[in-house]
Amino acid sequence: MRTVLKLGGSLLYDENGQVMIDRVREYAKVVKALLAKGHEFVIVVGGGKPARVFISAARELGASEAQCDWIGIKMARHNAELLCAALGDAAFPKIVETLDELEVAFQHGKVVLMGGLTPGQSTNAVAALAAESIDADILLNATNVDGVYDRDPKQPGAKMLKSVDIKELRSILSGSGTRAGEYKLFDPVAIKVVARSKIKAIIFNGNDPENLRRLIGKGEEIGSLVVYGSDE
Ligand code: UTP
Repeated sequence: MRTVLKLGGSLLYDENGQVMIDRVREYAKVVKALLAKGHEFVIVVGGGKPARVFISAARELGASEAQCDWIGIKMARHNAELLCAALGDAAFPKIVETLDELEVAFQHGKVVLMGGLTPGQSTNAVAALAAESIDADILLNATNVDGVYDRDPKQPGAKMLKSVDIKELRSILSGSGTRAGEYKLFDPVAIKVVARSKIKAIIFNGNDPENLRRLIGKGEEIGSLVVYGSDE
């Protein structure tokens, strides 16, 4: 299976802002095992806590939103370097910075790693664009919640949706931020891209790297599947 995996930056850092080395190692192990079975991967890593720390400091110092976005873009690339290191020879050695580069890098048969691409979006948009570019079979969005909820998952009575129509997803996420560091799940660009190409997308809990094996290796149904109504 040709997969684009988006790893939320929050999955790689603990509450003290330290990199969870074992988590990165465990992801590399699962990905290598799946590669050995013939699966192909592009992995897009988010900015996580360090991106938010730098963005808020830069904003206070007067940086423009575009400058803040660039900080996030670079931080996400640094996070991708961590996974690249853990994957060793299995990874294409350079973090890919454009979609043009992605197409060439992907031909090498290695795991291709990406961070951010361009201001005005999040790494979820990067993952959606990457999935479209390489004609991926699936886009997996690993987050720190079990899937998409009908309201803020912290609110009482919030229900996880096993499948969510793209229109409903758009409306659930309509209150999300659009400033640097504040994008949630799918940002507007990501929504637009998955909708126009009807990309099979699953949002799942990435705190357990084994969930990746469950989804790809075993075909288990976990998380929330995005579905597309006939009028999309
Ligand atoms: P993300 O918001 O995607 O990563 O990128 P995150 O903070 O780790 O969020 P999750 O946990 O993955 O959902 C960090 C910031 O980098 C900028 C945005 O400001 C974004 O909030 N960015 C990222 C861009 O401007 N363009 C990109 O293509 C990617």
